[in-house]
Amino acid sequence: MGFRFDVVGVGALNLDSIAPVSPAARSLLRGAVDWGAECRVGAATVDAAMRTVHAAAVRNAVGGSAYNTVAALARTGVGLRLGYVGVAGRLPVPGTPVAERLRKAGVDTALLREEPGELSGVCLSLVEDGERTLLVHPGANDRMAAHLEVEFDAVVEYLSAARIVHVTSFLDPRTPAVLADVLAAVRDRSPETVLTFDPGHVWAGTGGAPIAALATTADHVLLNERELRALGTTGDDTWAADRILRAGRPGRVVHVKRPAGVTTFTRSGPLLRARFHPQEALTADRVVDATGAGDVYAAGVLVALAGGGGTHLYDGVRLGMALARHKLLHLADAGHADFPGVVQAWRDFTTGPTSGRSPTDR
Ligand SMILES: Nc1ncnc2c1ncn2[C@@H]1O[C@H](COP(=O)(O)OP(=O)(O)OP(=O)(O)O)[C@@H](O)[C@H]1O
Ligand SMILES: [Mg+2]
Repeated sequence: MGFRFDVVGVGALNLDSIAPVSPAARSLLRGAVDWGAECRVGAATVDAAMRTVHAAAVRNAVGGSAYNTVAALARTGVGLRLGYVGVAGRLPVPGTPVAERLRKAGVDTALLREEPGELSGVCLSLVEDGERTLLVHPGANDRMAAHLEVEFDAVVEYLSAARIVHVTSFLDPRTPAVLADVLAAVRDRSPETVLTFDPGHVWAGTGGAPIAALATTADHVLLNERELRALGTTGDDTWAADRILRAGRPGRVVHVKRPAGVTTFTRSGPLLRARFHPQEALTADRVVDATGAGDVYAAGVLVALAGGGGTHLYDGVRLGMALARHKLLHLADAGHADFPGVVQAWRDFTTGPTSGRSPTDR
């Protein structure tokens, strides 16, 4: 079947900001936040806080897990046809609106709902003496469930036209169930569409039937160690991965990301196969910005999956790790311009005579 899109991302959109706590911010937020903790705040609070710290921010980047992945894919130079489904609000800082950024990057936004009158999601990290206070405002993302309900058939059709649908979290209580229904309908309509799922800390920890349904429908579940434990309920890696892979269609993969490498778990009948893909971990002093590194890993895996049958899963893991390592060395997306080179080096390695991979790896 011919697909209209290679990858469509589905996930919350945020402004991710990191700034030192200024005296003005401290007095503004006195009594309104729990210092050192993660706090959900309203639009007025986050807007005012952003205005106070904006000039001193060390990082101001549009983010959200799926957005990071799609934005990284757009920078690989591979020429993938991309789309995004989500809700974009007004950014609390000057700059190009999210929808326009996506379109400029060549990402289709036909089913991105735009809410210019409403504040976008914001994740503001206020740092002082190594202590960070996280102000989280879901903003326009909270309209996602309604967006999916109103546009249900259109979204199902849109996602069914994608070779890969990459799903990440929303923080409101309603979206998981509606999204699980949407993806079940996509699976019925287009069984060839590959579903990849990066639940992140919040969804992995929340649990519940809709999130379990999303994890079971997914062909690839991307997790770090903490998320694996949360989603797999208890026990060691193997036990947790086995639980996730027990249901769902054949060929499903759990990826467990660590600084030292990635372990892939697959299942063949009663047999669980674990394979560790090592890499040289960067020392802490070399890591410039870790936010979004996992999302860049996902982009590498997706490049390989979008390449069709000729590219092996393990090659995708290797590209994911290479891109993530590169991202860690740069603030926000400052290193993304080098992605085409990283992809080329990966291609040379995987297709070249020195690939060193034994035929049994295929
Ligand atoms: N020190 C390191 N050296 C090399 N690679 C690392 C190091 N630390 C992490 N990584 C890689 O970076 C990625 C981090 O993924 P992880 O899912 O843990 O990120 P995260 O904390 O969820 O961040 P985000 O969701 O913002 O992307 C993984 O691919 C991991 O292998
Ligand atoms: Mg993550």
